[in-house]
Amino acid sequence: MSELVAKRLENIEDLPTIPNTLQRVLTSIDEVTTSAQSMEEIIREDPVLTAKILKIANSPYYGLATEVSSIARAVVILGFDEVKNLVIGLSLTGAFSGGIHFPGMDGTSVWIHSFAVAQASKLVGEIMETLDPDELFTAGLLHDIGRVLMCLYFPEELNEIIALQDEGGLSLNEAEKNFGLPHTEVGAYLAKKWNLSDMLLNVIRYHHHPQGAGHYETEAAAVFLADELCHALKIGFHHDDQKKILVPKCLNFGADTVKLLAKKLKEQRDAIEESWRDVLTS
Ligand SMILES: [Fe+2]
Ligand SMILES: [Fe+2]
Repeated sequence: MSELVAKRLENIEDLPTIPNTLQRVLTSIDEVTTSAQSMEEIIREDPVLTAKILKIANSPYYGLATEVSSIARAVVILGFDEVKNLVIGLSLTGAFSGGIHFPGMDGTSVWIHSFAVAQASKLVGEIMETLDPDELFTAGLLHDIGRVLMCLYFPEELNEIIALQDEGGLSLNEAEKNFGLPHTEVGAYLAKKWNLSDMLLNVIRYHHHPQGAGHYETEAAAVFLADELCHALKIGFHHDDQKKILVPKCLNFGADTVKLLAKKLKEQRDAIEESWRDVLTS
């Protein structure tokens, strides 16, 4: 991280602490004793989260034939890992979405982008035998957490970055870099503060440059490709200038695989957008 970025971040005294539910779920994931029951207990303490999980479980996103009326049923029908993913996503959006208003970017569109990248990362993980699709979902969900933080904690700087982007005909990422506040570094700083795993930290920091992620290059590359697909398909917040989909070499994907991924994601696009918008604005 450049010194300038570090200084800016250190000057912020009230960088957010990790939401309580999120910390408990992320910590319990690493414990062998994690059970569906303990997950339910964590969720049940939070009525807003419970309501949101039931809402998404009964949305077109899953398209279930039967109604899910309790967290216990959600765990049975959707599976433990899927409910865990929902808890991670919804406790983040619950804590960080209000008050984001920038040109082409608001709390809902930024989070729809994150959920879409999470889902696309999971699809990539399902193709790669060496990757865990559910871990990739979490990585996709968190990849742009730095951007969310900038919207909430650096609004003035972000407005300057957007002005720089417009004046110089730059991409948002280039403008951030020129300004000295890349969302990848802001996210990595937070990931450290929150004690997230090395994998998550590396994906957050290197999702635009997977080669930098060392041991986690494949995970970062999976999220990179997921991000590319979501921008190209214009799901949620997206760059208008996305012309072609770049595919990191280390994934070893042929054109057919990428086409298949795009097709699957396209089929899910409406359900992702509508269902998450409904939950995020409720
Ligand atoms: Fe990003
Ligand atoms: Fe992104």
